[in-house]
Amino acid sequence: MATLTTTPLAPLLDRLFGEAESAETGPAIADLSADERERLMQSKTDYLDFYGRLKDLPLAVSRGTGTLLYMLARGCRARTIVEFGTSFGISTLHLAAALRDNGGGRLITSEFEQSKMARAREHLRAGGLADLVEFREGDALQTLSVDLPETVDLLLLDGAKALYPEILGLVESRLRPGAFIVADNADHSPDYLEYVRWPANGYLSTPFAEDVELSMRIN
Ligand SMILES: C[S@@+](CC[C@H](N)C(=O)[O-])C[C@H]1O[C@@H](n2cnc3c(N)ncnc32)[C@H](O)[C@@H]1O
Repeated sequence: MATLTTTPLAPLLDRLFGEAESAETGPAIADLSADERERLMQSKTDYLDFYGRLKDLPLAVSRGTGTLLYMLARGCRARTIVEFGTSFGISTLHLAAALRDNGGGRLITSEFEQSKMARAREHLRAGGLADLVEFREGDALQTLSVDLPETVDLLLLDGAKALYPEILGLVESRLRPGAFIVADNADHSPDYLEYVRWPANGYLSTPFAEDVELSMRIN
């Protein structure tokens, strides 16, 4: 039986997705115009302010994307995973479950909101998966710039969209041929899309499902 579909993880995820689906993003950013929201989403400097407003919200991947993460990590027999953007740990739970079912491994996850990281730790403990996860608190531009594994099998990009190119730059030399990169809501990061879709940069890349860019390192 898969860790993802059995107790304690399956009921925990049902609860967390239920809470995520009923959480309203609106009030936290109600005073921002649509243009200002888009500007903040695409800013390489104002992301602390933007995500600070959203610090009480899960902002989780969809259930479909969660399942995709588990499947990709199982399919490529991942042992080393890096995640940009932990939030409450919903995507982390899927990735850690895949590591468990692959026989173990190391998942490095990064989040700058201290209260979010605390909730994520609690959720990983409740899911029985905390032993697989290294929580790096602080700005991922710093926390992911040191002490990465020799090779990385899967990278999830789900923090500030404007930083996707910079975070990929930190991990790129560690990605093994065949490694997957899942970038959530990458349409807010045109520079990133341009980079991974240009074959000379060493990736195959395609939009996938509603809001994911799925890329694979080819050499
Ligand atoms: C969309 S949420 C992540 C959702 C999570 N992956 C999930 O599915 O449960 C994005 C998170 O990234 C965090 N974040 C944004 N930019 C960051 C940065 N530069 N360093 C660390 N965390 C960051 C935000 O605080 C927010 O919690």
